Amino acid sequence: MWDFFETVRHRHSIRKYQPDMAVEPEKLSAILEMACAAPSAGDLQAYRIIVVRDLADRQMLVNSCHQQNFIAEAPVCLVFCADPARSESVFSERGAKLYALQDATIAATYAQLAIVAAGMGSTWVGYFEEDKLREILKLESGLVPVALLSLGYPAELPEPSSRRRLDEVVAWR
Ligand SMILES: Cc1cc2nc3c(=O)[nH]c(=O)nc-3n(C[C@H](O)[C@H](O)[C@H](O)COP(=O)(O)O)c2cc1C
Repeated sequence: MWDFFETVRHRHSIRKYQPDMAVEPEKLSAILEMACAAPSAGDLQAYRIIVVRDLADRQMLVNSCHQQNFIAEAPVCLVFCADPARSESVFSERGAKLYALQDATIAATYAQLAIVAAGMGSTWVGYFEEDKLREILKLESGLVPVALLSLGYPAELPEPSSRRRLDEVVAWR
């Protein structure tokens, strides 16, 4: 088991997956549990996570994501949706417009790190056609898809991409 810093350092976007290695159900449950352990505004957990495992469904997801084929190659895809109405019920417009998106994004981030800690890899996919995705997943009205995570055992070890220098990014006051 890696400590947190090692887990973060080992996370790279994975776009090639081992075709014959399924995601164990207990690992998938643990990853989903970690996603739901994320903080959320007012503890409302204003998101929904759709687990897509069926190959035909994953192929349809590819069509809604500008033909990013690795989504079908990964055995699982997690779709994180914001639930603005849930947040709006307590936080009005700020909840609907901001907090629900943040809740869903943080949950996806936790899931992405849990995936690494569980010995697997993922890629965050944000380049999709929202209407097509809604239709494929038959999303409840009001839910807003925020991110997809392809998930499986990596078949590549990508070079770490470089990051901006801290002094460009961080301001000290
Ligand atoms: C909001 C967001 C949207 C992204 N959309 C895509 C995408 O549609 N397809 C893809 O292959 N990668 C996507 N990525 C992954 C980034 O390309 C990747 O995180 C970045 O290049 C840094 O590489 P690393 O994840 O290996 O550190 C997205 C990442 C984020 C945070």
